[in-house]
Amino acid sequence: MTRRAVAICMSMVCAVCFTSACSREVPQKTGTGAVKPEPDPQGRALDGEALFKQYCATCHPDGGNVNDPKRNLRGSTLRANHITSSEDIVRILRNPISRMIRFDAAMLPDSEARAIAGYVLKTFK
Ligand code: HEC
Repeated sequence: MTRRAVAICMSMVCAVCFTSACSREVPQKTGTGAVKPEPDPQGRALDGEALFKQYCATCHPDGGNVNDPKRNLRGSTLRANHITSSEDIVRILRNPISRMIRFDAAMLPDSEARAIAGYVLKTFK
């Protein structure tokens, strides 16, 4: 290998290093709750609405509740049930009250759970 070829190789390796270092420093969106922020592995901003539609909307269309209408996600209902922060919602996802399926961290990481919680709190009044 010539010196020139070695130099080209080295600069390519460096370019790769710089790119990956960069992507790790993308600022993270943090939730509103007091739960410790955890970086999203892909470094992308999380879309609470899309995640809600993916994981919750089958049972909670428009913030309702098809199985237990009294336990809907409207602000007034949540407040009556002492659910007032993202943290409270994430806690329910991890330990549901009775019939709701459990969303553990393997299924729904904290960052995504918080994005959904933020969406629920600001959307269903
Ligand atoms: C399989 C149906 C189902 C899915 C999917 C589901 N839930 Fe529920 N959810 C329920 C039921 C049933 C309850 C009533 C309490 C219980 O039985 O645990 C409930 C209760 C809740 C409550 C408490 C409401 C209150 O007024 O006390 C919150 C908050 C909640 N769900 C959020 C979510 C979020 C956020 C998602 C998506 C990540 C989700 N749920 C997905 C069925 C579901």
